[in-house]
Amino acid sequence: MTKVGSDKDYFVEKVSSQHLNIAQLLEILGKGEKWTAIPFSLWIEGIHKIQPRYYSISSSSLVQKDRVSVTAIVESVEIPGAPHVVKGVTTNYLLALKQKQHGDPHPDPHGLDYAITGPRNKYDGIHVPVHIRHSNFKLPSDPSTPIIMVGPGTGVAPFRGFVQERAAQAKAGENVGKTILFFGCRKKMEDFIYENEWEEYKEALGDKFELVVAFSRDGPQKVYVQHKLKEYAEEVNNLLQQKAFFYVCGDAANMAREVNTVLAQIIATQRGIPESKGEEIVKAMRASNQYQEDVWS
Ligand SMILES: Cc1cc2nc3c(=O)[nH]c(=O)nc-3n(C[C@H](O)[C@H](O)[C@H](O)COP(=O)(O)OP(=O)(O)OC[C@H]3O[C@@H](n4cnc5c(N)ncnc54)[C@H](O)[C@@H]3O)c2cc1C
Ligand SMILES: NC(=O)c1ccc[n+]([C@@H]2O[C@H](COP(=O)([O-])OP(=O)(O)OC[C@H]3O[C@@H](n4cnc5c(N)ncnc54)[C@H](OP(=O)(O)O)[C@@H]3O)[C@@H](O)[C@H]2O)c1
Repeated sequence: MTKVGSDKDYFVEKVSSQHLNIAQLLEILGKGEKWTAIPFSLWIEGIHKIQPRYYSISSSSLVQKDRVSVTAIVESVEIPGAPHVVKGVTTNYLLALKQKQHGDPHPDPHGLDYAITGPRNKYDGIHVPVHIRHSNFKLPSDPSTPIIMVGPGTGVAPFRGFVQERAAQAKAGENVGKTILFFGCRKKMEDFIYENEWEEYKEALGDKFELVVAFSRDGPQKVYVQHKLKEYAEEVNNLLQQKAFFYVCGDAANMAREVNTVLAQIIATQRGIPESKGEEIVKAMRASNQYQEDVWS
C-alpha cells in the first residue's frame, strides 16, 4: 500500500489500469485480510465527498407542476483492462430507488447493494438528496418562435420537456411555432426512447411538430443527427432566418462540435456565402443566445 501511494507507475499498474475504486483496491490488496490496523475514520477522512451528478430536467413545469422527470442511462460498462464491469454510482442508485418504488423490498441493480434509506433512515421511503439548479437552457418566452432541437441519446432529455410543453400550449389554443427535433440513437428497436410519446405530441401539434430520426446502427452506414440536419438544410436555414432558436444537448466531446460545424456549412451553402462567414453567424447566434447548448462528456 505504501508503494501504491508513492510510486506513480506502480499506481497505474495496480489501480488506474484496472479501473479500481478504493473499496475494490483494499479488497484486492488485502488478499482476504481485513485492514484492522488502520482506523476506519482515517479512510473516511481521506475520501472526497461524493460529487453531485447533473441531469437535465425532462419534463415541463406547465404539464407537471409538482414533479420533475430526468432521463438517464444506467451506466454499466465493460472497460478494457478492468477485471469487473464498471457500474455508475448514481444511475444505479436511481435504478435501485425505482425498483423500490415498484415494490421490490431488496433492490440490487446490476448486483449492487445501496443503503437507500440513508444514514439513520433519513431517506426512508422514496427520498433522494436532490437540488434543482436554475438553468438558462429553456424555451423562448414566445411560444410562436420556431425552435430546432438536436438531441441524440440522453441528449433528448430537455427536449422531451420542451415538446411536452408546446403540445400542452397547442392544446390550450396557443399559436405554437414550428418545432423540429433531431433525435439519434443506435437502433430503432432498442433505444428509441419516448417513441410512443412523440406520437401523442404529434397529435396535439400536427404539422407544427416534426421528429427527424437518425439510427446509427440499423444500416450499413452510420447515420447521425448532423447528417439529417444537412438533409433538412433548406428548412433549417429558413427557420433560422425567422429567428428560430437552435438547441443542442448531449455529448460535448464530438457531437456538439460537429453539429456546430455542420450548421455553419448549412448557413454558408444556403445563403451563398463563404464558410468562414457561416461560422461567424453561428458565433453571433451563440452570443445572442439564439444558439444554446447543454452538453456534457
Ligand atoms: C450539465 C449536465 C447535464 C447532464 N444531463 C444528463 C442527462 O440528462 N441524462 C444522463 O443520463 N446524464 C446526464 N449527465 C451525466 C450525469 O451527470 C452522470 O455523469 C451520469 O449519469 C453517470 O453518473 P453515474 O454516477 O451513474 O456514473 P459514475 O459512477 O460517475 O461513472 C461514470 C463513468 O465513469 C467511468 N468510471 C467510473 N468509475 C471508474 C473507474 N473506477 N475506472 C474507470 N472509469 C470509471 C465509467 O465510464 C462510468 O461509466 C449530465 C451531465 C452534465 C454535466
Ligand atoms: N445497448 C447499449 O448497451 C447501450 C445503448 C445506448 C447507450 N449505451 C451507453 O449509454 C451511454 C450514453 O448513452 P446515450 O444514449 O446518451 O448515447 P449513445 O447511445 O452513446 O449515442 C447516441 C447516438 O449518437 C450517436 N453518435 C456517436 N457519435 C456521434 C457524433 N460524433 N455525432 C453525432 N452522433 C453521434 C451514436 O452512434 P454510435 O454509437 O452508433 O456511433 C448513437 O446513435 C454510453 O455509456 C453508452 O455506452 C448503451
